[in-house]
Amino acid sequence: MRINKYIAGAGIASRRKADELVANGNVKVNGVTLKEAGYDVVEGDVVEVNGRVIQTVEDKIYILLNKPVGYVTTVSDEKNRPTVMDLVADVDGRIFPVGRLDYNTSGMLIMTNDGDFAYKLTHPKHEMPKTYRALVAGVLSNEKCAKLRNGVDIGGFVTSRAKVNIVKGTPKTTLVDITIHEGKNRQVRKMFKAVGNRVQQLERIAIGDVRMGRLAEGHYRKLTVDEIEYLRKL
Ligand code: URA
Repeated sequence: MRINKYIAGAGIASRRKADELVANGNVKVNGVTLKEAGYDVVEGDVVEVNGRVIQTVEDKIYILLNKPVGYVTTVSDEKNRPTVMDLVADVDGRIFPVGRLDYNTSGMLIMTNDGDFAYKLTHPKHEMPKTYRALVAGVLSNEKCAKLRNGVDIGGFVTSRAKVNIVKGTPKTTLVDITIHEGKNRQVRKMFKAVGNRVQQLERIAIGDVRMGRLAEGHYRKLTVDEIEYLRKL
């Protein structure tokens, strides 16, 4: 495998950046600084980038699924409901969902077979920002927006600072984007309930800066190397 692909596969740089690392003398193979950008890594080679031994993760799978409403985010369901696994049945590898979206929530769900990556993305200490677009009943006043931004009590837990942007308001409903940093059970629904607006529809639209792009419901795409790298560093 070409050295730039190998480095990209380790998730530390895109292929283009990997070429630069080689050109700048930051890459060693078996202890010797690499001179050729086109080097083919062979079985048993020890590759170092900036003094750190790396291993390619080409066998790792990183998928972004646009989960529709009506699917549970588990590998199997005792009630026999459709699961997100049904939507990725053609993926060759034992992937699992990273985190959870409610049965009635749609949108971005990352699936992978990389346990470390999943751990990083879901561990509370990493405070991964997640953005949801919610359609809520009624008008969301400035006071309510301020409360949501500063933190609300959702039953024994006060949420941390959130970003709240109204996308569209009508007398009956408000469409609003909210970015939170925790992942408590049904957190967004509980936050809006705490200020008196029931969530009617909820979709996750971003994880950090990674957006779904044009992806039909029920479809998936691979995360790009840059997206994987970005999420790892976040
Ligand atoms: N908050 C919710 O209320 N539901 C989700 O699925 C995700 C976040």
